[in-house]
Amino acid sequence: MPDAYILGIESSCDETAAAVVRSGEQIASNIVFSQIATHQPYGGVVPELASREHLRAIVPVVRKALADAKQTYQSVDALAVTQGPGLAGALLVGISYAKALAFSLDKPLIAVNHLEGHIHAVLLEERQKGNHQFDFPVLALVVSGGHTHLYLAKRREEGWSYQNIGRTRDDAAGEAFDKVAKLLALGYPGGPIIDRLSSHGNPKAVSFGPSQIKHRDRNDRGVPPGDGPRFDFSYSGIKTAVLRYVETHNLQAGVAARRHALLNFKNPKLEDYLACCDRQTLDLVSSFQRAMVEDLVEKTLAAGHAYDVATVFVTGGVAANQELRQRFEQAAALEGLPVFFPSRPLSTDNAAMIAAAAYPKFLVQDFAPMDFSAEAGMGLR
Ligand code: KG4
Ligand code: ZN
Repeated sequence: MPDAYILGIESSCDETAAAVVRSGEQIASNIVFSQIATHQPYGGVVPELASREHLRAIVPVVRKALADAKQTYQSVDALAVTQGPGLAGALLVGISYAKALAFSLDKPLIAVNHLEGHIHAVLLEERQKGNHQFDFPVLALVVSGGHTHLYLAKRREEGWSYQNIGRTRDDAAGEAFDKVAKLLALGYPGGPIIDRLSSHGNPKAVSFGPSQIKHRDRNDRGVPPGDGPRFDFSYSGIKTAVLRYVETHNLQAGVAARRHALLNFKNPKLEDYLACCDRQTLDLVSSFQRAMVEDLVEKTLAAGHAYDVATVFVTGGVAANQELRQRFEQAAALEGLPVFFPSRPLSTDNAAMIAAAAYPKFLVQDFAPMDFSAEAGMGLR
């Protein structure tokens, strides 16, 4: 089989991304245009602004991806685009552009599930290192701003099949990081700054009990019936517990002062954050992160046990978290389980993972019809 160059396009949330990947295993280019500066003043992603920014960025981002890869519109073998899940308007920008390109260039177009893309970020980089062998079944934790999903993955012809055995009942893990950072006036997105501040506090200072990170929810609606035990997550309680802690420990004045102080910086550095965080706030941040990390690691490994998996993947924006990576490595090593992460840049949204996930579909000519549309709530099977 000759080399196949796939141009991937990703626009599901607040990153406009394009990449060229050779045969699912070699990144030729990877361009990510982040919209963080646009959404920062609002403390979260504003869907209408996201669509508008995608419209502005998509053409130059795709051009740069082709130029960096020394490819042209004509030379690539296929186009791949994220179909869902994500923001409908944002997805439509990428899909419409990819369809127009595919139609005018007469190239095949492949629709990719964003969650499968995150899983392929791991595969892509392992193949790039020469590792083509994984023991099955694989348990994949996809943990990001919109998702906290556990998938049991098995081999199916050229691709994989997935069984969801866990998901969040309310907030996703990344969403909890973002909301906690917002209520502590630490800016957006919250994950990276909480990650960097956490090592400056005492992770045992504040304890969050099982009532904050609930193991079971009374509301079972929306959860697909499965054949085995489920390992669901819930992170809205811990966000409320942090808010309550702020109120009961009189931290509000400090939060207001920090919000004001950080207005003076366009891109605050770690020292700037540290200068406006007292010990109690650093301890709270550090304890919050520890509780999140422990719950994610504990539930994933418990699921791994229950389903007797051979390999664990951890991927998605929150997989960039330093403490999460360390804790997973330590805990999985004790159990003799190999655990794989993408590199930190490939943990967050990118298009290289979309182009990589498209490759098995390219091999079996699983191409998208021209009338396919965005699927905001797309599941993975
Ligand atoms: O995968 P991603 O880029 O977009 C989604 O598909 O949602 O994930 C973004 C999420 C945000 O919630 C962000 O706060 C979180 O990932 N995140 C982190 C870190 N870097 C990004 N969370 C914890 N620690 C990090 N280092
Ligand atoms: Zn994502």
